[in-house]
Amino acid sequence: MAFRSRITGTGGFAPPRVVTNDEMAKIVDTNDQWIQERSGIKTRRLVDFEGAMSTGDMAEQAAKAALERAGITALDLDLIIVGTVTPDMRVPSCACIVQQRLGAKNAAAFDVLAACAGSMFALSVADKFIRTGTAKRILVIGGETLSVITNWTDRGTCVLFGDAAGAFVVEAAPEDGPGLVDTAIYSDGNTWQHLYIPAGGSKQPLTPQLLAERKDRLIMNGREVYKIAVRSLVDAAEKILAKNGLTAADVGLVVAHQANLRIIEAVAQRVDIPLDRFVINIDRYGNTSSASALITFDEAARDGRMKPGTNVLMLAIGAGMCWAAALYRA
Ligand SMILES: CC(C)(COP(=O)(O)OP(=O)(O)OC[C@H]1O[C@@H](n2cnc3c(N)ncnc32)[C@H](O)[C@@H]1OP(=O)(O)O)[C@@H](O)C(=O)NCCC(=O)NCCS
Repeated sequence: MAFRSRITGTGGFAPPRVVTNDEMAKIVDTNDQWIQERSGIKTRRLVDFEGAMSTGDMAEQAAKAALERAGITALDLDLIIVGTVTPDMRVPSCACIVQQRLGAKNAAAFDVLAACAGSMFALSVADKFIRTGTAKRILVIGGETLSVITNWTDRGTCVLFGDAAGAFVVEAAPEDGPGLVDTAIYSDGNTWQHLYIPAGGSKQPLTPQLLAERKDRLIMNGREVYKIAVRSLVDAAEKILAKNGLTAADVGLVVAHQANLRIIEAVAQRVDIPLDRFVINIDRYGNTSSASALITFDEAARDGRMKPGTNVLMLAIGAGMCWAAALYRA
């Protein structure tokens, strides 16, 4: 029997502390108008201070909500895949931390690193396990504490990011019912230098000097990332629709990584899908990296926008650069 991956439960968690643009203006030379005009962000949610709440802590909360909505327990899980660039520790994986917290002792657990596209890469991997019959119930998580890798003296990046975690329970379901129709993942390693963290890996192990120079923090060429994001997401959207015999008119809802409202608007215009079909929450959360697509899907799943039969187009892009598309029939 052929299987399809059905998302049977979703969950999202963001730390309680809401940080406004006016508060950001006390940290760096910026203002509410600039941030809103260039990114669409009004507030973001941040862990209280570094170390107060970890990616694993947030992932645990999102996962518990997703398991409850799916009506299964952690013991039912075969696999846990976490997309993150901010695991609790360098070793072990965040997925193993989550496994312990949930008591998911029957699952294998590992992380994938595709930055802001990490959860969509994880979803694509999960889909392959389901389709091959290797796993029946998988927890897919995107969790990120970007505030711990943000350079809080760089106004060009720090105003954009937020902390959060999202989770999906993905279960094997009949091929002809609701579920993931297709996924596609892409990377272009020639573009990595537009978004990266120079130190803290094997190439440049941390030293006091590198820490003082904030080389353990994100560096971004915003203009290049913007151009690559629009071009890549449009291409991925067009390819996955064409491959599955659909047109833009068939798409009822778009769940895209919330990197920047202007990127979303440009993609909407070029793919020719009205902006009101895009689920938007960047105004409240900022760019939460791998959590973004999952908390956005979760929001739409819970507020009734995801009606049965809706074709949902999912899109994400992140450092690498890596990008992904998925088609989901609700
Ligand atoms: C980062 C981004 C919002 C910047 O917008 P932009 O229109 O490209 O702006 P620029 O970087 O050209 O900067 C324009 C001016 O604003 C200034 N500026 C940058 N950040 C600022 C801030 N937070 N507040 C006020 N001014 C700021 C710059 O210094 C520059 O000033 P100058 O003209 O005097 O040199 C935009 O490039 C972007 O969204 N890129 C994609 C980022 C992204 O999505 N990354 C994650 C991918 S997963």
